[in-house]
Amino acid sequence: MKLFVPREREGGETRVAASPDTVKKLAGLGFAVTVENGAGEGSRITDDAFEAAGATIGSAEDAKDADVVLKVRRPNGEDLSTYRKGAVVIATMDPYGHEDAVEAMAKAGVTAFAMEFMPRITRAQVMDVLSSQANLAGYQAVLDAAFEFDRAFPMMMTAAGTVPAARVFVMGAGVAGLQAIATARRLGAVVTATDVRPAAKEQVESLGAKFIAIEDEEFKAAETAGGYAKQMSAEYQAKQAELTASHIAKQDVVITTALIPGRPAPKLISREMVESMKPGSVIVDLAVERGGNVEGAVPGEVAQVGPAKIVGHLNMAGRIAASASLLYARNLSAFLETLVDKEAKALKLDLSEELQKATVLSHEGRVVHPAFAKEEAPVEAAPTDTVGDAPKGEV
Ligand code: NAI
Repeated sequence: MKLFVPREREGGETRVAASPDTVKKLAGLGFAVTVENGAGEGSRITDDAFEAAGATIGSAEDAKDADVVLKVRRPNGEDLSTYRKGAVVIATMDPYGHEDAVEAMAKAGVTAFAMEFMPRITRAQVMDVLSSQANLAGYQAVLDAAFEFDRAFPMMMTAAGTVPAARVFVMGAGVAGLQAIATARRLGAVVTATDVRPAAKEQVESLGAKFIAIEDEEFKAAETAGGYAKQMSAEYQAKQAELTASHIAKQDVVITTALIPGRPAPKLISREMVESMKPGSVIVDLAVERGGNVEGAVPGEVAQVGPAKIVGHLNMAGRIAASASLLYARNLSAFLETLVDKEAKALKLDLSEELQKATVLSHEGRVVHPAFAKEEAPVEAAPTDTVGDAPKGEV
């Protein structure tokens, strides 16, 4: 089984989809691993370190006979033109709003797995890229806020006087938000947080932050079976805005992380709310890549809007790439391990299996994921073997 790990070329991506640790693991499973030269540069992993772990250092050309390609980002058309038909491609595919790109993967004949669709069940926790990357993004968001903020976070009682603690408000207390709360608390800030899911309340409080939310009937039913937030009604959003508006005006730092799977991020902070803040305030919009939680946030920029700076850095996990890559690589290798027949040391797909079924986007020339398939494409099949010739079997 040949496995290729390319250097990421798009969007200034600093992460890489393998680490020396995962190369070792994958080699143990029977993969001949080729890593493109310089692939680990942005994550401080040298070619030598990959080589010492058992990889061969190659070039982009080596994609052409790979059975498996591990990536951080969805392959573009140029990448796909170098992959062989039937190759398995595992990456963060960001498919919503990019249906053409999903179609292109189908046309290229690759079996594409979207890691962000991994079910949030216990045995798949080790494969949860959303959690591993959001956790680091939440941490980095606080560091970026502290960097932009021109005052101290902790209360400091000195001979020359007392510096008050910064007030930090975290909107959205999922994985990123909870880590942002924990990080801001460690820095000594006074932290409050909000979410629309009732389960978040206890988690926020257990981290020593105060929970603020409209806790009505809709709130009590806001969590989906998968643990995600639902799109809230216009009435709820209006009540939520009313509650948070006066709170935001008193904050030094606001970090927004609110997302709803498959939808644009909810708008939580209006221009008016930004204008109500004190001079020197900082807002970090972690949802900026998904439309943003904050009016006036500019993707990829730190925008001065009235009294506040709005930080709109893209790829927050990529700003802490050396850590993010290690976890991301581990997520991918854990999933890939489930696609390997360990005795035969061969790939063995079974797209009816829970994890594969949830994550597969394209297979045998067709878009098969129900959220993107144009026609009926049930993903129920006998196991198929993708190594060697083009995959056999009807899916
Ligand atoms: P996410 O990235 O989809 O959203 C971030 C947060 O924004 C969520 O907490 C969501 O409730 C919140 N949000 C959405 N709309 C909002 C609004 N209008 N106002 C305020 N907040 C809003 O969520 P994430 O971080 O992926 O986590 C979702 C849940 O899944 C959490 O409870 C997390 O603990 C849980 N989880 C479970 C795992 C498992 O394996 N069982 C693994 C990872 C997370």
